[in-house]
Amino acid sequence: MELTFMKFAFFFVIFSAFIIHNVNAKPLHSIKLIKRGSSRNMDSMEYAKYLRDSAMNKYKYSKEVMKKSCSKSSNNNKSSSKSKSNKGNSKVLSKNKQSTIDLKDIQFDDAYFGAITIGNQNFNILMDTGSSDLFVPNTNCTSPACRNHNSFDVKKSKTFKKEGNPWNVTFGTGSASGVTGIDNVKIGAFTAENMIFGLTDNLSDDFINLESDGILGMAFDRLNTLDNQAPTLITTLINQKKINPLFSFHLSRISNFNDQGTLTIGGVDNTKFQGKITFNPVIKTSIVNAIAFWLINVDDASVNKKSLNFKGRNAIIDTGTSTIILPDNDAAKIHSQIPGAVLDTNANMFVIPCNTTSTVAFKFGGVDFNINPKDLLLGPVDGQNCVSAIVPGFNFDGKNLTWLVGVPFLKNVYSVFKVDNPAVGFARNK
Ligand SMILES: *[C@@H]1O[C@H](CO)[C@@H](O)[C@H](O)[C@H]1NC(C)=O
Ligand SMILES: *[C@@H]1O[C@H](CO)[C@@H](O)[C@H](O)[C@H]1NC(C)=O
Ligand SMILES: *[C@@H]1O[C@H](CO)[C@@H](O)[C@H](O)[C@H]1NC(C)=O
Ligand SMILES: *[C@@H]1O[C@H](CO)[C@@H](O)[C@H](O)[C@H]1NC(C)=O
Ligand SMILES: *[C@@H]1O[C@H](CO)[C@@H](O)[C@H](O)[C@H]1NC(C)=O
Ligand SMILES: *[C@@H]1O[C@H](CO)[C@@H](O)[C@H](O)[C@H]1NC(C)=O
Repeated sequence: MELTFMKFAFFFVIFSAFIIHNVNAKPLHSIKLIKRGSSRNMDSMEYAKYLRDSAMNKYKYSKEVMKKSCSKSSNNNKSSSKSKSNKGNSKVLSKNKQSTIDLKDIQFDDAYFGAITIGNQNFNILMDTGSSDLFVPNTNCTSPACRNHNSFDVKKSKTFKKEGNPWNVTFGTGSASGVTGIDNVKIGAFTAENMIFGLTDNLSDDFINLESDGILGMAFDRLNTLDNQAPTLITTLINQKKINPLFSFHLSRISNFNDQGTLTIGGVDNTKFQGKITFNPVIKTSIVNAIAFWLINVDDASVNKKSLNFKGRNAIIDTGTSTIILPDNDAAKIHSQIPGAVLDTNANMFVIPCNTTSTVAFKFGGVDFNINPKDLLLGPVDGQNCVSAIVPGFNFDGKNLTWLVGVPFLKNVYSVFKVDNPAVGFARNK
C-alpha cells in the first residue's frame, strides 16, 4: 500500500515538473511535447542511438574546445605534479565545509538534477561531470526550450553583474548560446560569490523535453568555454574556501522508490556507501596533454568473474552520459562472454536477453565493481531481448583506448571526485 502510494507520488512529481513549467510559460502550440521515456519504450533501439549520438557529439565538441583553446590552467598543472599518493583522504575534512543535496532522476536514470539558485532565483540543474560550463535560460530568450523552463531575470537580482562575453556550447544533439553574467550561485549550504555563468539567449529544441533548466559542468576549468576556462562552480567554492576540495555522488535507480540520489559537495555521504573508497589518480588527456576530464586508468573488465585481460585502457567518468560507450572491439569482447548477446549490425548496438544474469565488472584501483545485470538493459526490442547499455562506437583518443563510463556503471558505486591531487574514488553502495 505504502509502496504503491510512493510510486504514485514519485511519478506525480516527475509529471508535475512538466505541467508546472508549462503553466508559467507561453503555450507551445507548434511544439510536440514528447516525453523521451515513452518514446524509449516504443523504440528502444532508436532511443539508444539517440543517447549514443548525444554523448558522441558532446565529446566531439569537447575535443574542438580543447584544441582551440590554449592552456592557462596553472591550477591543474600544480595539482597534477604533486605526489601521487591518492590512497585515502590524507587531510581531515572539515564538517562545516560539506553539504548534501538531493538529486532526482531525469527520465529513467538518464541523468540527475538538483537545485541551485543564481541571484536568489531557483533552477533545476543537470549535474554533469563530463563538461564544465554552467548555463541557464535568460528571461528574454524566446526559444521554445527556454519558455518551458525556469529562466534568469537580470532585473530581479540585486547581485547580478553584467559581463556580456558571448559563449556557446554543443551538448548532446543540441546547442545553447548567449552571453556571460556574474552573480552569486548557491548550492546546498554554500554560496559561490561572483561566479561567471552563461545566460542562454538561444536554446535548441531538444532541451524542451529535459526536466532540468540548465547544466552544471563539474569537470575541470580547462573545459569551460565561458570566458575561455573560467573557474567552475566547484573551483570557485574551493578558491573561496567554502568547501573541502571534493564532491561525491550517489546515483539512485528509478526502480528503487525509497532510494534517494545525493550529491555531497565538500565531502562524502557516509550513509550511502560501505567499506573503503579506492582512489584512482586523474590522468591527462592525450588530446591536449592536460587534465580536463575525470579520466582514470581502467585495470580490466570481467564477465561472470572471467577476466578479459584488457590492458592500457582509461575511462572518462561522466554522470551526464546515460550509457557506457566503448571502442567497437572492447564492446565486442565483453559481449562475447554474455550468453545470447548479438550485434545488431544495422544499428551497431548489442542486443542481450532481458533476463540476462551475466555480471559485467569493471576493475579500478585493483577492485572489481559489479554492474547489476538490470543496469545493462537500455530497453526492450522485443518480448525477450533488450538493447545493451554497453554500446560500441567510441574512439575519442584515436587509439581506441578510452572508455566513456556513465550512469549504468555509476549507479552501482558511490563515486568521489577529489579536486586537489585529482582522483576519482569508488566505494560499494550500501
Ligand atoms: C607546469 O609546472 C611546471 C613547474 O611546476 C612548469 O615547469 C611547466 O612549464 C608547467 N607546465 C604547463 C603546461 O604549464
Ligand atoms: C537578452 O539579453 C541579453 C543581455 O542580458 C542580450 O545580450 C541579448 O541580446 C538579449 N536577447 C534578446 C533575444 O533580446
Ligand atoms: C561559438 O563561439 C566560438 C568562440 O567564441 C565562435 O568562434 C563560434 O563562431 C561560435 N559559434 C556559434 C554557432 O555561435
Ligand atoms: C538560434 O540557433 C539556431 C541554430 O544554431 C539558429 O538557426 C537561430 O538563428 C538562432 N536564433 C537566434 C535568435 O539567434
Ligand atoms: C530467459 O528467457 C528465456 C526465454 O523465455 C528462457 O529460455 C531462459 O531460460 C531464461 N533465462 C534465464 C536465465 O532465466
Ligand atoms: C578503432 O576502431 C575503429 C572501429 O572498429 C577502427 O576502424 C579503427 O581502425 C581503430 N583504430 C585504431 C587506431 O585501432
